[in-house]
Amino acid sequence: MTTRTRILTGITTTGTPHLGNYAGAIRPAILASEDANADSFYFLADYHALIKCDDPQRIQRSRMEIAATWLAGGLDVNRVTFYRQSDIPEIPELTWLLTCVAAKGLLNRAHAYKASVDKNVETGEDPDAGITMGLYSYPVLMAADILMFNAHKVPVGRDQIQHVEMARDIGQRFNHLFGKGKEFFTMPEALIEESVATLPGLDGRKMSKSYDNTIPLFTSAKEMKDAISRIVTDSRAPGEAKDPGNSHLFTLYQAFATKAQEEELRGELLQGLGWGEAKNRLFQLLDGQLGEARERYHQLMSRPSDMEDLLLVGAKKARAVAAPFLAELREAVGLRSFVNQAAAPVAAKKKAAKSSRVLSFREGNSFRFRVLAADGSPLLLSSEFADGKKAGAVIKQLQSGQTLDIRTEAYGFNVWLDGECVAESSAIYADAAQRDAGIEALRVALTPLED
Ligand code: TRP
Repeated sequence: MTTRTRILTGITTTGTPHLGNYAGAIRPAILASEDANADSFYFLADYHALIKCDDPQRIQRSRMEIAATWLAGGLDVNRVTFYRQSDIPEIPELTWLLTCVAAKGLLNRAHAYKASVDKNVETGEDPDAGITMGLYSYPVLMAADILMFNAHKVPVGRDQIQHVEMARDIGQRFNHLFGKGKEFFTMPEALIEESVATLPGLDGRKMSKSYDNTIPLFTSAKEMKDAISRIVTDSRAPGEAKDPGNSHLFTLYQAFATKAQEEELRGELLQGLGWGEAKNRLFQLLDGQLGEARERYHQLMSRPSDMEDLLLVGAKKARAVAAPFLAELREAVGLRSFVNQAAAPVAAKKKAAKSSRVLSFREGNSFRFRVLAADGSPLLLSSEFADGKKAGAVIKQLQSGQTLDIRTEAYGFNVWLDGECVAESSAIYADAAQRDAGIEALRVALTPLED
């Protein structure tokens, strides 16, 4: 059996996916997951979303929209493990184990955190103003996402390469400290898809929510059409030759067209096709390709409990990998069960407990001993013996397993051996019941331990 390549990536759930997200990340990821050699883990990084967003409604909406987008886009949940990060309690648990080995100096160098500090310094604020521990520890959580499933390849944008490198660094350190030669964690590699174009937005800059220049993906045909009508073009009139190489409208068209369709539009633009008509062509192309998926999207959004079920199945699949692995890691760092300890230390402890129950001591010229309960409380005090040998012989007899001759006396008791009182209770008890309990405790303390 050949081992498949495990490909893992997370999508932070803070926005609504747009056409640029679809072409740049969603579509290639779904295609990659169809490769027979790929074992894909795709998840909603909703713990990461909390770092950037404190609006519960927006978090919730985005989680649903992103789930529906991937499913509508054709993600096959039977092939892929598709889950919500927050459904996997092993991830925050691993995050803590990794936090305890991650060097603070490493995290000081994280771009996202540094950018926030720089901004504060620039504006004369305290360097840490508005910076949460979430932002600071962001790369450790991401390392846990990746290392938990021993991903080989992590498709990410360029801004995330550093985080994948940090995951390697932290994972390596854990391997070194606790692996004893065993490599717990696979070293992940960032996968940057060079061939995937970043789509231009309406104004020609990179399509991004922060530039407010996006084309909506599945919202509605009308909204897509409206956005397309706002694509900025030059002012050449219909009939004038257009330069396709200088038109981001054409670039958008290229990203979805076949080679033949692309050449056709190129030719027509050169021959003076009007921009209005070109926009119409783009809309037809996109609507043709995405119309059905849009239908599926709205169906999914209208049946959230179906999505909930799918994601819980995904979580179950993911946890079937995560839980046993985390158990191993807990074991490695010393978070272990108290039972099933190695046999040797237990035997040693038994012996120690036994010897601690009888305490011999000297008092003036005589020898005496005490018997202590397992918790250390005194039960019995011997009479005075003229020599240590005699005291030792009495102890031995009391511990031999023979029936003890214990005689009560009011709320205390005495122990007799060969017609001689050899010891008395250490205490006078409050009542008969407590005295009898004391006698019982003495019997237990003197019972020989079986080996
Ligand atoms: N930080 C990533 C982003 O903003 C999302 C993410 C979270 C991720 N955990 C991940 C990506 C693990 C890849 C692997 O794009």
